[in-house]
Amino acid sequence: MKPKIIVANWKCNPESSQEAQKLFGISDKKNVVIAAPYLFLHLGKELTYAQLGAQDAFLDNGAFTGEVSSRQLVKAGVKSVILGHSERRIYFGETDELIVQKAKAALDFGLSVIICIGESQREREEGTMMAGRTIRRDVINSLSGIPPKRSGKITVAYEPIWAIGTGETPNPTDINERAKLIKSTAESLGLFGVNVLYGGSVDENNCSDFLNQPEIDGLLVGGASLVSEKIAKIIKIMNNLNGDIYPVVHKEVPTKPKPAKEVKKLTKTKTAKK
Ligand code: PGA
Repeated sequence: MKPKIIVANWKCNPESSQEAQKLFGISDKKNVVIAAPYLFLHLGKELTYAQLGAQDAFLDNGAFTGEVSSRQLVKAGVKSVILGHSERRIYFGETDELIVQKAKAALDFGLSVIICIGESQREREEGTMMAGRTIRRDVINSLSGIPPKRSGKITVAYEPIWAIGTGETPNPTDINERAKLIKSTAESLGLFGVNVLYGGSVDENNCSDFLNQPEIDGLLVGGASLVSEKIAKIIKIMNNLNGDIYPVVHKEVPTKPKPAKEVKKLTKTKTAKK
């Protein structure tokens, strides 16, 4: 079995450096990525086993008030970045087009990317057939145009929006089938070996149900990653399954940072209007 990974998504938490320091310490284990807020990234530089991650990344440096670029994140020791989380799509209007551009830029700078997709409650109500179509559509829209040579650094996090922070989780065997569909759709785009994570109300009690599914390569954990006892237990369960295997997220040596080709186009269109 492939080694599993846990990505801890702290979102806009915790409140203080002291709390962040404590959480870093608890989650500093093999096969873990800690996606901390920008504010606390410097505290994660001392991580021994876990990888430092971020929750978003802009295309490049420049006159983009409030943004943080992939180029800066690499310099700050970040190895992986979450892109297109449903909260960014819903609250900050991020489009598939922007997410693909961010992914290409992040990959150019040597980061691994964790691209989030997942159906809404309305799409869920439309049924399983529709969920399959939604997944194919989301994979195609969020990954099209990413060069196949980058496949080894791409992870898709499948997070049904209705499961995020609600305590409601889907059937793990259904998610296993969906992970298979995500992989085959990615392969149709020339992207082989993409990892698939499940996210949405994962906790210490349900994590092994998902981790034991062969097509699910790991978990994206939100709320439970902020509670010391919970995240410690989840990581322990995962690493018991893995044995002593190193992370699968960051497989390649980072490529030399070079300017993202897409940044000019975006600055002329969307960003310039803001
Ligand atoms: P949750 O969040 O674990 O709190 O549901 C998951 C996520 O949004 O990444």
